[in-house]
Amino acid sequence: MLDKTRTTPSEAGAQDEDTARPLASEGAADQRTVFDLELIQRYDQSGPRYTSYPTAVEFDPAFDETRYKQVCQETNASGRPLSLYFHIPFCDTVCFYCACNKIATKDRTLVQPYLERVYKELAMQSALFDDERVVEQLHWGGGTPTFISGAQMRELMAETRRHFKLADDEVGEYSIEIDPREAKGDTIALLREIGFNRMSLGVQDFDPRVQQAVNRVQSQDETFAVLEAARREGFRSISIDLIYGLPHQTAESFLDTLDKIIAVGPERLSVFNYAHLPRRFMPQRRIDEAELPPPQVKLEILQATIERLTDAGWLYIGMDHFARPDDELALAQRNGTLYRNFQGYSTHADCDLLGIGVTSIGKVGATYSQNRRELDEYYADIDAGRLPVFRGIELTRDDEIRRDVITRLICLFKLDFSEVERTWDLNFQDYFGRDLAKLQGMQADGLLEIDSSGIRVLPKGRLLIRNICMAFDAYMEAKQGQGGFSKVI
Ligand SMILES: C[S@@+](CC[C@H](N)C(=O)[O-])C[C@H]1O[C@@H](n2cnc3c(N)ncnc32)[C@H](O)[C@@H]1O
Ligand code: SF4
Repeated sequence: MLDKTRTTPSEAGAQDEDTARPLASEGAADQRTVFDLELIQRYDQSGPRYTSYPTAVEFDPAFDETRYKQVCQETNASGRPLSLYFHIPFCDTVCFYCACNKIATKDRTLVQPYLERVYKELAMQSALFDDERVVEQLHWGGGTPTFISGAQMRELMAETRRHFKLADDEVGEYSIEIDPREAKGDTIALLREIGFNRMSLGVQDFDPRVQQAVNRVQSQDETFAVLEAARREGFRSISIDLIYGLPHQTAESFLDTLDKIIAVGPERLSVFNYAHLPRRFMPQRRIDEAELPPPQVKLEILQATIERLTDAGWLYIGMDHFARPDDELALAQRNGTLYRNFQGYSTHADCDLLGIGVTSIGKVGATYSQNRRELDEYYADIDAGRLPVFRGIELTRDDEIRRDVITRLICLFKLDFSEVERTWDLNFQDYFGRDLAKLQGMQADGLLEIDSSGIRVLPKGRLLIRNICMAFDAYMEAKQGQGGFSKVI
């Protein structure tokens, strides 16, 4: 059964101190989370996850290759560090729940032609940026990045280093998504050798019934063998991905999986709410909806998860993410330096992000841009010597201001008006009067506190941070009723 309200005990001591402190001078954020069933049910609605603002729905084909090139060159004056995202779309088998951009195939000869195009794109992109600009963040995502062979991994990293200057291991955040079924023998040692120092492992659920229903059969042994190898090789931060809301799951069954994960103590955990959008993602049609847990059971799983993880010492960082208190993300949240982008939370705020490969999204200057989503179109552009940007958006000043506000709230669970006023030369109350009025109900419900100096999200509001951010989203009214966004909880 669900407790109606339950406070997680972690850092409970710090809370009283924080309550007594004025908002503007607040130091460490209150990192507790309270699960309030009635509020969660009342506020449950579809909404963006704010990996970007404006969201990808607003991207426009009018933003093209020519404009992208100009913007990249303009950013060179800043000398800002760079972040590189590489998309490797291939997977050996399809997991029925999957909402990622992937191509399921057994044919590994598809890889080399893809990488050849990626190398050409790397060369075209690197020509736009000053050689002095250092890459501080690099990520291989998918699909399944380790679908490619060891030799191809070496080659991809060597090509990257040929075109870009990578920061040293102590500074750079070099991460990769690993499907443990695709990491054999010496893969992990090889990844460390070529420069990776962080990884996330896809697990989802260890229950064999769940695994069969979603076509992802993966043993604990193969999963933990990869985790141990990563530790042995000196990977600094290991994260594990789980999903709740999959067929046959109950709070009890999910806690079994969770306990096995807790026992091996990863630095971070992502516990994603299963986004079931079968009209958009074909493989999801192979999931029997009668086997999905009803909303009440999903909430039981969420509550049990938060309690179990916080009791075991992990902090809820926000938006499905948990971290141990000594992990750099938890520290960055306390210090006010946490940042969020397409790859999730990060400690590198000020990079220009280059998306490389099919479907990748970049964030350069005050723009977002996306590469072609179909492989043949991506190849056609590259073969013709064009960058494969097919849509994007230039942020207006209002977009930039609102993005700053939403990012601060989502990462830090607080907002200091004077910081926004200083950064953007505006009066917060004047600029956001209408938006602040939308938060009145949430304040009355105990989700947040507003005073003349700022907003503080309270422990009951942390799980509903998307709702709070939506009040500052200028595109929200148009978006409502459009569908396509997942539920907040
Ligand atoms: C690109 S995938 C992972 C990489 C790798 N291919 C793997 O499966 O281990 C990133 C993560 O997204 C999550 N994910 C995929 N589809 C999802 C969905 N429909 N709802 C929620 N999370 C999902 C899974 O937890 C998955 O591990
Ligand atoms: S979850 Fe990972 S392995 Fe499964 S289909 Fe999606 S990207 Fe591929």
